Amino acid sequence: MSHPLSLLEQRHSVPSRQLGAPGPDAATLKAMLEASIRVPDHGKLEPFRLLLIQGDDKLAFGQKLAELSLRVNPHMTDSKREKDRTRYDFAPLVVVVIARTDDESKVPVIEQQLTAGCVAYNLLLAAEAMGFGAQWLTGWAAYDREAAAIMGLKDNEQVIGFVHIGTSQIDVPDRERPRLADVVSTWTP
Ligand SMILES: Cc1cc2nc3c(=O)[nH]c(=O)nc-3n(C[C@H](O)[C@H](O)[C@H](O)COP(=O)(O)O)c2cc1C
Repeated sequence: MSHPLSLLEQRHSVPSRQLGAPGPDAATLKAMLEASIRVPDHGKLEPFRLLLIQGDDKLAFGQKLAELSLRVNPHMTDSKREKDRTRYDFAPLVVVVIARTDDESKVPVIEQQLTAGCVAYNLLLAAEAMGFGAQWLTGWAAYDREAAAIMGLKDNEQVIGFVHIGTSQIDVPDRERPRLADVVSTWTP
């Protein structure tokens, strides 16, 4: 029997360019999404939503971002523009995790964003649990309001991350992890 913590201990990202078919089928995806939205949520505000980008729409999305990027920076190189165009087309599925925050709430906005962040992390864990690879990416498009408009975001919504999910095409060597002793101490009065 595997150790109860093995899922967390083994989880690592797979670079989005190394994620290929197959992605999760409809039933698996639904189960992964349902598990992922089970997050701690101060005030039960449900301060998140998910936008799925799949199939041919991934390249169409990249194309729109590349056009935007070229308009803002007309001197960008062809290779950079091609990177923007194809960025979302490697993994079979990209889940945009969106925070929808209420700045009038007594719950601080950062707590609402953290709740949305938990959804993104849960998606990474759900992918790992179901045998898929995943990577949480942001990049300029996560912070650009014109890119937000392409995704249909309202003023109170922000991209928390693009979670790319698919089947890992390579064995990813683990990276060096933080040493517990460097990050843990005990408070004493
Ligand atoms: C909020 C957030 C945004 C990130 N954005 C990027 C990004 O745009 N590009 C990138 O290469 N890695 C990004 N990362 C890092 C990767 O998702 C991943 O954590 C990293 O490659 C290390 O892999 P690990 O998950 O195996 O520790 C981001 C991570 C977080 C938490």
